[in-house]
Amino acid sequence: MIARMVLNGRSRQVDVRPEHTLLETLRDTLGIFDVKEGCGEGVCGACTVLLDGRPVSSCLVLAPAVRGRAVTTLRGLERDGGLHPLQEAFVRHGAVQCGFCTPGMLLTALAFLEREPRPDREAIRAALEGNLCRCTGYTKIVDAVEAYARDRGHG
Ligand code: FES
Ligand code: FES
Repeated sequence: MIARMVLNGRSRQVDVRPEHTLLETLRDTLGIFDVKEGCGEGVCGACTVLLDGRPVSSCLVLAPAVRGRAVTTLRGLERDGGLHPLQEAFVRHGAVQCGFCTPGMLLTALAFLEREPRPDREAIRAALEGNLCRCTGYTKIVDAVEAYARDRGHG
């Protein structure tokens, strides 16, 4: 089935298999490997993408359901081919170790900051609790999100 979607800001026609998840379509059909596959059952958040601006676990969304909708992956955050300022904050604060959780973490954080531009640390932690990180202990991730919000004039 051919479905049209807006993928990282560009309208695309995508050959979608009805039984495929959005995660499978992104990685296996389109070769978008910045979307990570972790648990495959909605627990880890590694596969997070933005669907019409809201974070979803792409392993839980059937691909045909995104017809006509906007999907954003990490790639969609690039600015003129460079890193997004939140990515830069993650690097500056040592919030990336293995990096497996990072794409989903960044997308969840950005959607959260849209809703709540002046969060305290507790709120940031709560917003990110669906995105599991085995490496960093979260402190540096919260540092990075907090610094980004502050530097953007939100804090
Ligand atoms: S791979 Fe989708 S939530 Fe873990
Ligand atoms: S940096 Fe390794 S899982 Fe988060």
